[in-house]
Amino acid sequence: MDEVQKLVDDALKEINSATDSSTLNNIRIKYLGKKGLITSLMKKLKDLPQEERPKFGAHVNNAKNIITQKINEKLEEISEKEKKKKYEELAVDISIPGARRDIGHLHILTQIQKELEDIFISMGFEVVEGPEVEDTWHNFDALNTPDWHPARDIQDSFYFTDKILLRTHTSPVQIRTMLQRKPPLAIISPGRVYRRDYDSTHLPMFTQMEGLFVDKNVTIKHLKYTLEEMAKRIFGENSKVRLRPSFFPFTEPSYEVDVLFGDTWLEILGAGMVDPNVFKNAGYDPEEWSGFAFGLGLERIAMVKYGIKDIRDFIRNDIKFLENY
Ligand code: PHE
Repeated sequence: MDEVQKLVDDALKEINSATDSSTLNNIRIKYLGKKGLITSLMKKLKDLPQEERPKFGAHVNNAKNIITQKINEKLEEISEKEKKKKYEELAVDISIPGARRDIGHLHILTQIQKELEDIFISMGFEVVEGPEVEDTWHNFDALNTPDWHPARDIQDSFYFTDKILLRTHTSPVQIRTMLQRKPPLAIISPGRVYRRDYDSTHLPMFTQMEGLFVDKNVTIKHLKYTLEEMAKRIFGENSKVRLRPSFFPFTEPSYEVDVLFGDTWLEILGAGMVDPNVFKNAGYDPEEWSGFAFGLGLERIAMVKYGIKDIRDFIRNDIKFLENY
């Protein structure tokens, strides 16, 4: 009997000091397993005299029940603790501020392009596109630009072959559009153009927006009004435009157009009345149709509007610069 009581006391001590479920499992095996201490006590039963057996049996059984119950209780306590610990580890503190993600925005030139598109669309123009790899006919010949013109020189343009080059301006889109459509029409065409230039005010790749308006009885007044409307919307209500005589092979007369910004006149585009030869090359009758065309430099506009000094900033991809606009 004392032996049984001692076993129970030992078991309870061990159970109480256990701190994890695997220790408890070992205790269970030690006392209650097939070869456990309680089990071997039961085996002693048959060595006892007949009259002592029931009492001893009950005693051992009782010990077994106590140990089983204590183990189960402790196990529950421990697994409760273990669960709590796990939840604490997994818990998310929703009061910690989140990691902020930097949100980008459109490149300044794309912004200017969209702004201009909106302005011209509101005046009834439609946006069309043309290829950057052009042939000399669309880029020069059809635009009344003869063989001897310096723009055609290999020194000034990027040629792939004798007849294929990177377009030097967006004006070939005038030809492509007129060949595809019947007049009247009003289009703008933004895109990249390429010339062999590189300094603080010239890049080998830059961006233009072509404009072409064809209808009956179009005059310089229509051209000036359209450009002035654009200038006011981009540079402010007080802006004006000024036309200075110039020369382009594909317009007659031709102008450099200055825009008043603050109190300075700034040159931002070329323009003019579509040359009759250009209409002929595009299959329009110059006796019946008239029109104006213009070519804006988008980098120029952005530089003027925001006081940017170096055109190369647009393509340096310096986040510090780009973030300002
Ligand atoms: N294509 C000319 C240039 O790149 C600009 C221009 C366009 C001039 C249309 C007149 C008419 O310089």
